[in-house]
Amino acid sequence: MGEDGQGEGASRRRAVRVKRVFMANNPETTVPCDVKDLNLADTGKRRIEWAFQSMPVLQNIRKQFIKGQPLAGVRIAACLHVTTETANLMVTLRDGGAEVRLCASNPLSTQDDVAASLVRDYSIPVFAIKGENNEVYYSHIMSALDHKPNITMDDGADLVTVLHTKRQELLPEVIGGTEETTTGVIRLKAMAKDGVLQYPIIAINDAATKHLFDNRYGTGQSTIDGILRATNCLLAGMNFVVAGYGWCGRGVAMRARGMGANVIITEVDPIKALEALMDGYRVMSMSEAAEIGDVFVTVTGDKAVIAKEHFEKLKNGAILCNSGHFNVEIDLEALAKMASSRRQTREFVEEFALRDGRRIYVLGEGRLINLAAAEGHPASVMDMSFANQALSVEYMVKNHSSLPKDCFPVPQDLDKQVARMKLESMGVKIDRLTLEQERYLSSWSEGT
Ligand code: NAI
Repeated sequence: MGEDGQGEGASRRRAVRVKRVFMANNPETTVPCDVKDLNLADTGKRRIEWAFQSMPVLQNIRKQFIKGQPLAGVRIAACLHVTTETANLMVTLRDGGAEVRLCASNPLSTQDDVAASLVRDYSIPVFAIKGENNEVYYSHIMSALDHKPNITMDDGADLVTVLHTKRQELLPEVIGGTEETTTGVIRLKAMAKDGVLQYPIIAINDAATKHLFDNRYGTGQSTIDGILRATNCLLAGMNFVVAGYGWCGRGVAMRARGMGANVIITEVDPIKALEALMDGYRVMSMSEAAEIGDVFVTVTGDKAVIAKEHFEKLKNGAILCNSGHFNVEIDLEALAKMASSRRQTREFVEEFALRDGRRIYVLGEGRLINLAAAEGHPASVMDMSFANQALSVEYMVKNHSSLPKDCFPVPQDLDKQVARMKLESMGVKIDRLTLEQERYLSSWSEGT
């Protein structure tokens, strides 16, 4: 993707702390940022370009955006995983005329080289450092909000929550937002139900072209990737426990089975549990699974799914990780209390030595393992999720005044448009209904 580095707004030259950071690393840039090291930008740029090749739908949208400038003058504060795919979304929005600022949606998911390249090569302000502590994480959200956004783009609803609780003075300028993930959508719907949500938000996650593919195949593959990169363990023959058989859980289970693991599902929803059983998995309670599992992955969006009573039963050497949005699915506080010592055995692998002699391994501090230890979802699947993001922002800019202060799905025609564009990019043609079929499918008079 060719870059000219244009489009810096005066507002981008404000952040004080960042000024210090970029002056140390790259005195010639004036883009506000707090990134690890601008010298990492070369690698980041090559990786961003590599991902862009696998994002044909977003490429198409970018071309349309460059021509039509549908986001001219719109300020966007984005709180997303800072990955190569996100970088391409940011550039697409910017090329549609928006002024974009980006911060991380998880302390461990930032790719520092990508953050550096976005600042140096694309003049996009970024506030994100892999491994940042909670205080810095929230200060970065504040820096993104200092942009006085018209649109918020969130992944997990942390930015929206901070805006509604600590930065309410900014609310009058916000016209709408988007939310990327299941957990964020749940939080936003709860805000709408309590009557506190102050503007309309489109639930990107609820688009079929998002959760059917990103959550299932994306999380499925990249979670396995994260576990393998962190541990280099052999999955074949292992008892592999997946907690939660939703969109992500289905994907993780499917891919673990493909690697030869003996997959066990735990669920709280009887329908999902039955589905898992008939998909050919063993289904049992976490208490039972705890006794026999070798590897555990939580993908529920819930808290304390693996808790003290389960730790008590785990086999020596059991590996625990999470791919759900927040790091609350494994009760790490309880595990820490049970441990006599802790040490880092490999990058992203922490050993908890329990008083009874067992050793339990936790990957990536219980944070999203696919982003902590691997690179997140492959670009070709994020192509659809981020096409939904870009088209939804455009839709929001056009229609915000007639939309309710609620969290609702991507309009179906946009969802279908994304599917059509993806198929086209893959060279796949599908049939069309004939007029006769259309009539038949909408009538009741014809029978046997
Ligand atoms: P979903 O709603 O489709 O599935 C969650 C499943 O967990 C449901 O079937 C529910 O019944 C089950 N569940 C809830 N509490 C449970 C418990 N205590 N024990 C066992 N099962 C339980 O949600 P989806 O889309 O699969 O997302 C799951 C989580 O993954 C969310 O936090 C979401 O934000 C996150 N996510 C992570 C991604 C990643 O890159 N790692 C990508 C997309 C989503």
